[in-house]
Amino acid sequence: MMSEKRKVESLLPEIVLAPLRGVTTVDYRNVFCRHFSGLDSALAPFIPTVSGKVIKPKLLSDILPEKNRALPVVPQIIGKEPADIIVLAKTIYDLGYEEVNWNLGCPWKFVAKKMRGSGLLPHPDKVDAILAEVLSNIPGKFSVKVRLGMKTEHDLKALIPVLNKHDLSEVIIHPRTAVQMYEGTVDVDMFAECFDLLTHRVVYNGDITSVEFYKTLKERFPTITKWMIGRGVIINPFLAAEIKGAAPLSLSAYTVAVRDFHDDMLSWTEDRLSGPGHILGCMKELWKYMAISFEGSEKKLAYILRAKTMNEYGRRTDEFFHFYENHG
Ligand SMILES: Cc1cc2nc3c(=O)[nH]c(=O)nc-3n(C[C@H](O)[C@H](O)[C@H](O)COP(=O)(O)O)c2cc1C
Repeated sequence: MMSEKRKVESLLPEIVLAPLRGVTTVDYRNVFCRHFSGLDSALAPFIPTVSGKVIKPKLLSDILPEKNRALPVVPQIIGKEPADIIVLAKTIYDLGYEEVNWNLGCPWKFVAKKMRGSGLLPHPDKVDAILAEVLSNIPGKFSVKVRLGMKTEHDLKALIPVLNKHDLSEVIIHPRTAVQMYEGTVDVDMFAECFDLLTHRVVYNGDITSVEFYKTLKERFPTITKWMIGRGVIINPFLAAEIKGAAPLSLSAYTVAVRDFHDDMLSWTEDRLSGPGHILGCMKELWKYMAISFEGSEKKLAYILRAKTMNEYGRRTDEFFHFYENHG
């Protein structure tokens, strides 16, 4: 008979870190795993296809297997030319990866207008032709990450017969249109319609920033076992563990943990990048998310974001952490 513990474990959701280009880098993923738990894997930020048969090593630096031992990773690519997708995907399988994910959701105009990312969503015939050619020429698993559509939330529904026709390992859905970017609410009703129509394994992704919202979704979609979280985990790095049952920490203990993570992340960033401009740019990007979990921190965050030197940055972040460590 299965023990109680095993039963609980088997009910635990699988949680994947969403790709946020410029934020969930290999350094972030590795440092995260040294300080926090709860994530089962990560989808790496997209790598663009290039024309020609040679992929420059720099393009692959984020997914080099020797740097990605802390957390299982699925690399993601973005592009529209089957030949280029095949070359890049094969290069990635050659590194030892079993699966490659194709980005059909990137909302940025300069990407979408070139019919890449979400720009392909309104064109089922084109997606059909690309998938037919790519899938018959690659040796590994292939999955897609989609939005509901480009300008309307109806594109995905029209694309589903095409997706169902092909041998995909899973479909990750972020239920917003590209026009919405990351604003407004997620359309969970339209997600439900698409979920019912898809024959592939579906992964839900969008706006999971609290255990409560996760529970609401899980109640509505009890058969979904895999969830992708981006901003929610960057804002509160304990979120994945809390969803799996960990008790929330006191504010001061939380602040100490986030400070340790921050200091580790800063030292990695200092080793990797040269010049305060680059280092500060990278760390400030992280702060825009991290500060959200500290109530009433808007002015303190703005002060950190105005730091121009490493000394200013050090003093201001120290003040920030000191304040919350002592008000917990
Ligand atoms: C700054 C930024 C960069 C992103 N980069 C990628 C990317 O490289 N590939 C991708 O599929 N999605 C990308 N996304 C979308 C996220 O993976 C995710 O779908 C979105 O943030 C919604 O999930 P969340 O609400 O859990 O963050 C990006 C989002 C942001 C805000």
